[in-house]
Amino acid sequence: MTVIEAGPPGEIRIAPSILAADFGNLARAVEEIDVETDWLHVDVMDGHFVPNVSLGPPVVASLRRYSNKFFDCHLMMTEPGRYLEAFMKAGANGCTVHVEVGGTASLISDARALGLRVGLAANPDTPFSAVAPYLGDVDLLLLMTVFPGFGGQSFMADVLPKVEQARHEIESSALELDLEVDGGIDVATAPRVVRAGANVLVAGSAIFVQSDPLNAAKELRAAAYEGRR
Ligand code: DX5
Ligand code: ZN
Repeated sequence: MTVIEAGPPGEIRIAPSILAADFGNLARAVEEIDVETDWLHVDVMDGHFVPNVSLGPPVVASLRRYSNKFFDCHLMMTEPGRYLEAFMKAGANGCTVHVEVGGTASLISDARALGLRVGLAANPDTPFSAVAPYLGDVDLLLLMTVFPGFGGQSFMADVLPKVEQARHEIESSALELDLEVDGGIDVATAPRVVRAGANVLVAGSAIFVQSDPLNAAKELRAAAYEGRR
């Protein structure tokens, strides 16, 4: 399977979160939305960093046979370092670790050594200052717009100033970095996060829990571009 590259940083991208898809028909669910989406966002939950358990490398490996999308794996795990290689071998293209778990510098270099695109995530209540020292070393900053653990939660607008702060830092320091948001993204919140500076929009419920997921993805992309005007 030749995987489509991540693409240049900063472009508007829609990354459907498979957490909201029918796990019994995952291949069909991701094929259905393929043409209107960019990356595939894979939420990994370990039952420790977050109270929920989702999926692991075997699911990524299975999905890899059905999709040539860039797999953007969001590791909500206390010990992501133990699993980076397994995810890479399963077909992950990018792995994002949370700054709250610590050991950030070595996690970044371990992921880089495996040839992964590297992301760093911050929870809604984690200040920008916690991730700022690493921005020159990662490919993506993920600012959570809900507390991680569950799909279908309400967007937290009080994260928007942090998105603006991150975008300002990216521009002023001329960093090559994607700025991703995740949680409660839909046609109403998409223009707001893009206006604040986000360029990669993760969406679970707003795509997969809709009667026409393909059209929902198309409308979400249009809404995201509204924010660029
Ligand atoms: C939350 C996950 C999200 C989640 C988003 O812990 O990281 O990716 O699936 O779901 P929605 O779009 O439904 O808020
Ligand atoms: Zn996620």
